[in-house]
Amino acid sequence: MPATSGRSAIPPMLRTDASTPGRVLPPMQLSTYVDWRRDGDLAQRRYDSYEAYLEHQSQKLDRIEDRLRAREEEDLAIFLDRFEHCEALTGCRVVLCLGARIGTEVRALHQLGYFAVGLDLNPGRDNPLVLPGDFHALVFPDGSVDAVYTNCLDHVFDLEKMMSEVRRVLRPGGVFVADVLEGYEEGFVPGDYEATHWRKLEPFLDEVERVSGLTRESLRDPGRMREREKLRDRVHQAVFRKPDRPA
Ligand SMILES: C[S@@+](CC[C@H](N)C(=O)[O-])C[C@H]1O[C@@H](n2cnc3c(N)ncnc32)[C@H](O)[C@@H]1O
Repeated sequence: MPATSGRSAIPPMLRTDASTPGRVLPPMQLSTYVDWRRDGDLAQRRYDSYEAYLEHQSQKLDRIEDRLRAREEEDLAIFLDRFEHCEALTGCRVVLCLGARIGTEVRALHQLGYFAVGLDLNPGRDNPLVLPGDFHALVFPDGSVDAVYTNCLDHVFDLEKMMSEVRRVLRPGGVFVADVLEGYEEGFVPGDYEATHWRKLEPFLDEVERVSGLTRESLRDPGRMREREKLRDRVHQAVFRKPDRPA
């Protein structure tokens, strides 16, 4: 369980510009990281309480909704492309999307013929695609979905708790598909809303596998989610599978 009090910092690190191999950027200002603590390969934003985490995470939509709506069709095309090329979703029907915000990924899955629903702390008003909820405590029954999708692992408070919920709601043989950012030593710099980050992608995916008891099946590099965001949005697609039978 992440700590929720006191202060320390991630040591400054040299960032590598992922768009220009070999180019090294200056170290981030230490002040950028004063609200973060390191725990092995993980870095977690410090919150005074779980309620403070929920409140912080719920705030972002109100600040960026206009921008999101303006680029919604572009985002839809990106999600369509990523799901169409995700072989693990073949044969799945019911997909739960965690941290789905306005529901663009849910729209993409509907267009591809899936029964999909999203969940978000703040789905905004009158959102028919996304239910309000916390992905650390899912309301859905055990084994009720074929697949879980998220691009929000960098927003978790407690990775183990969230992943145990993912495992619980997946049917045996179901898949967890995660679009995952590179680590802070690989070029991604956490912004104002990330709650968790990692040093490097590979050890982080090992940690996801370890805490979830799911088996990592594949890792694809479809490149950036959004061309214009360059460094901040280099996202790999990892697939994990729940065993067919309890171990
Ligand atoms: C980076 S946004 C991703 C939104 C969406 N998937 C997209 O690609 O447009 C992260 C989202 O995670 C949501 N979130 C953060 N913590 C959450 C939690 N504990 N349970 C559910 N949603 C959460 C935030 O409200 C926010 O909408």
